[in-house]
Amino acid sequence: MSIIDIIKTRRTIKSFKPDSINMSEVEDWLEASSYAPNHKMHEPWEVKVIGGETRAKINHKTNFGGAPLLLAVLSKVGANKVERDENIMATSCFIQNFALAAHEAGVGVFWCSIGASAQGRQHLQATDEQEVVAVLAVGYAADVPDVKPRTPIKEKITYLA
Ligand SMILES: Cc1cc2nc3c(=O)[nH]c(=O)nc-3n(C[C@H](O)[C@H](O)[C@H](O)COP(=O)(O)O)c2cc1C
Repeated sequence: MSIIDIIKTRRTIKSFKPDSINMSEVEDWLEASSYAPNHKMHEPWEVKVIGGETRAKINHKTNFGGAPLLLAVLSKVGANKVERDENIMATSCFIQNFALAAHEAGVGVFWCSIGASAQGRQHLQATDEQEVVAVLAVGYAADVPDVKPRTPIKEKITYLA
């Protein structure tokens, strides 16, 4: 698949097969993800592999669609608001890289924001120095939803003089 095909065929997956995912492959995708752009090489992302006890505490309404693997992706808060925002932007690039790498390998990802709540943060043991950007449910898709059409990009482009 070309990079354009990978980008355009990725879907948020919300229903997974129980088949386990090879953790060394996941580590390869995370390593590739770390080539995300990030200001001043802060590399602000941190990844936690979520175990069964923590997953039960999070108590997600669909149990993350039965995904066999859950990752929390956190971002360093940084020294000020600008750094905080830039770090979250970089961490979001990291997450998108991960989703695309997984998708290329035939594995689906669900980006869930449940970890950002006070309770979610507590369950994920996030410190005051960490924002929780995503809980990623990872696994082989049991169901791939149809594409959600996007607004024609020309409507989003303005040319400045
Ligand atoms: C920052 C962020 C947070 C998201 N949080 C949730 C969420 O909590 N629950 C959910 O169902 N989808 C969540 N999504 C996934 C979006 O709903 C999904 O990307 C959107 O519907 C477009 O679908 P697609 O990813 O298949 O193109 C999140 C996506 C992003 C980027």
